[in-house]
Amino acid sequence: MLVHAITANISYEFAADVRTGLTKPGQKELLSKYLYDDVGSALFEVISHLPEYGLTRADERLLRRHASDIVERLPTPIAVAELGSGSGKKTRKILEALCRRQRTRYYPIEISPSALAMCERELSDIDSINILGFEREYLDGLLEVAAQRRPGQHLLVLFLGSTIGNFDRMAGIKFLAEVRHILQPGDSLLLGTDLEKSSAQLLAAYDDELGVTAAFNLNLLARINRELDADFDLAHFEHLARINPQSRSVEMHLQSLRRQTVHIPAADLAVEFREGETIWTESSHKYSQEEVCQMARTAGFRCDVQWIDDQWPFAENLLIAE
Ligand SMILES: C[S@@+](CC[C@H](N)C(=O)[O-])C[C@H]1O[C@@H](n2cnc3c(N)ncnc32)[C@H](O)[C@@H]1O
Repeated sequence: MLVHAITANISYEFAADVRTGLTKPGQKELLSKYLYDDVGSALFEVISHLPEYGLTRADERLLRRHASDIVERLPTPIAVAELGSGSGKKTRKILEALCRRQRTRYYPIEISPSALAMCERELSDIDSINILGFEREYLDGLLEVAAQRRPGQHLLVLFLGSTIGNFDRMAGIKFLAEVRHILQPGDSLLLGTDLEKSSAQLLAAYDDELGVTAAFNLNLLARINRELDADFDLAHFEHLARINPQSRSVEMHLQSLRRQTVHIPAADLAVEFREGETIWTESSHKYSQEEVCQMARTAGFRCDVQWIDDQWPFAENLLIAE
């Protein structure tokens, strides 16, 4: 796989974002995209196998069951771009179905270099596939993909795993509208969305018994230690998952177990923590079935089909750019 990578200024941006997030008045915050370094991407793969985290299996079941149906609804010729592909495992069924019909160019877009490498290993054996990865943020990557488009070629964008849920609701609609803006009428977006379910099911999914999600979350502090030379003592922070009923989301936090000061030299920062104070690291918003179509319409898409999993409330939505 050919990969276009941007490496310059990544540490500088990381330091600046850590500084902004940890000096915020009120709730301290770290951006969820920084959860995915090499260790974080590997831990996310393990999370997707946990019995409590039914989301990935539901997404995978829907893609496996409906891959031919999805592909039959798409125009030809078509190229595929995937936002935050991760390992790309679930994408295999869609790509295999497409590659039976035409030679297919697949563009995974990822900020995690190790996830991008996993994706190549996972999918490069498919017949008639041509993979070109972009180590970029979602929209920067999609703009580059759009620039490679040949005359008459359509585009299918995949945004799976309910990663849309990491945006708050308004930001999610704005993001979909930005994606729509890069697309042309008739292009498609296959959007995975996790649906509302019981608090007990959600809390178990984001705070598993084995502690893998806790390690995934705490790795963000370890990453700051590794890359920004900080002195977070991981034994003095604890993973916390909680439901936010107002925003209908599950939030992940890192809670300080004592009063402490942490030094982050590369961000030119010393941060005070009170006992019990938290750093908010991720939100995962949950949706009603109808709400997803409403969001899609507001962003300029038509909701063509929704497939719902019968074991774990999750919707695969095929959206068409109007
Ligand atoms: C929740 S995981 C989902 C992975 C995969 N799509 C799945 O469904 O299992 C989110 C993925 O998006 C990537 N990611 C997060 N923020 C990103 C950003 N701003 N731009 C590009 N990729 C991003 C992460 O590295 C991670 O692999």
